[in-house]
Amino acid sequence: MKVLNFGSLNLDYVYSVDHMVAPGETLTSAERNVFCGGKGLNQSIALAKAGADVYHAGQIGPEGQMLLDAMEEQGVKTHWVRKTEVPTGHAVIQVDKSGQNCILLYGGANRALTAEYIDQVLADFASGDMLLLQNEVNMLDYIIDTAYERGMTVVLNPSPFDSGLESCDLSKVSLFLLNEVEGAQLAGGSEPEEILKALREKYPDAKAVLTLGSEGSVYQYGDYTVWQSIYKVDAVDTTAAGDTFTGYFLAAVLEGQDVDKALDLAARASAIAVTRNGAAPSVPLRSEVEKYQFSL
Ligand code: RIB
Repeated sequence: MKVLNFGSLNLDYVYSVDHMVAPGETLTSAERNVFCGGKGLNQSIALAKAGADVYHAGQIGPEGQMLLDAMEEQGVKTHWVRKTEVPTGHAVIQVDKSGQNCILLYGGANRALTAEYIDQVLADFASGDMLLLQNEVNMLDYIIDTAYERGMTVVLNPSPFDSGLESCDLSKVSLFLLNEVEGAQLAGGSEPEEILKALREKYPDAKAVLTLGSEGSVYQYGDYTVWQSIYKVDAVDTTAAGDTFTGYFLAAVLEGQDVDKALDLAARASAIAVTRNGAAPSVPLRSEVEKYQFSL
């Protein structure tokens, strides 16, 4: 079974700020760094660092070579990444003193996918292969339909949540990985139990992993649930913590681990990620996750 991640690749321009800039305010940042990012790229790198064999598809522009290099360095298979003349996607990210972030996206090449390219990529994958998606590329509805017809298992992180998801047939999704805001937007409810119930009712055949910030995370399949708490750390930058969680959870499941073990590994990896700056560079290696000592 192969794992294909069809997702975004962004250059992240990260500004360290005292507080998030307010409407009408001009604010000087203390520092600017450029990191590899994009939910797609981050999740592929997390899968690879966790030890999974992952293929990435998506598009970059002329200035996107560093994104390709970063994935290849970690062993992600990039044969299907297409170079275009459309500018590489980027994100303008403010990170405040508590490590919280604000992200402004420019889709660029990520949002210039064509049916022809999608068909070419998916033709290389078959029944039983896994397809991982986020919501930072265009034609998500077409990718889901085509992959489903080919018998692929569709896994969706519906992030960022927007109206583009309305055209997607989400009954074709086998596993949702989402936070509580996205869960509420997708299915309804406000408290975790309500969101889980709403997800269960709306997508009865799908599994779900709902992340709950400081409350941890929960896996649900029908009436079966597994709860996981967080590992407490001092946050420096929360960017890509969710992507790290997604990549590590899927990698553990793919290698046959039980859900409780997979959630625990993902919680450890994402906790380490928030102690580091940047998106992709903050994703820890499996060996680091396994030996990291968390204080109680
Ligand atoms: O999830 C974090 C990512 O969101 C960043 O790397 C940024 O590029 C946006 O896609």
